[in-house]
Amino acid sequence: MKIVAINGNPRAENGYTNILLNSFIQGMMDAEADVGLFYTQHLDIKPCNCGQMYCWYNKSGECYHTDDLRILYPKLKEADILVLATPVYIPLPDTMQNLLNRLCPFIEPYKSKEEEVLVFAGEITPLDWALSGLT
Ligand SMILES: Cc1cc2nc3c(=O)[nH]c(=O)nc-3n(C[C@H](O)[C@H](O)[C@H](O)COP(=O)(O)O)c2cc1C
Repeated sequence: MKIVAINGNPRAENGYTNILLNSFIQGMMDAEADVGLFYTQHLDIKPCNCGQMYCWYNKSGECYHTDDLRILYPKLKEADILVLATPVYIPLPDTMQNLLNRLCPFIEPYKSKEEEVLVFAGEITPLDWALSGLT
């Protein structure tokens, strides 16, 4: 089983988040899972700011930016489980928020001609939940 674990704490390897996540990862490794650990603080994750929904309307499924998520996107696609660990920071640290926003390419949109509303297909992500309020 492939697992991607992401620590979204600006303090990265320091803090309670890392202690909790490491303990969780140890349990998953004991169960012989293949775990990849990433720290958003050590990655270049640009904000979702192309302003045109490029990943939906220009090149479906492909993000406009060429930053470290180009490396992470394929790993997220392959993963059976995604673990997101973050401290509560009014509500989220910026790099973790950027990561969540940048999951947009994983949502496959299409427009229903009859109803003229956006319909989302694909797997449930935190972003699905966030965007469901807009439909
Ligand atoms: C900038 C900042 C904002 C925070 N905002 C909140 C908050 O809104 N609600 C809350 O319960 N705790 C908040 N906290 C407390 C952190 O969630 C808490 O200290 C947490 O243990 C930090 O995680 P860490 O030890 O892994 O760094 C905030 C801490 C910081 C530094």
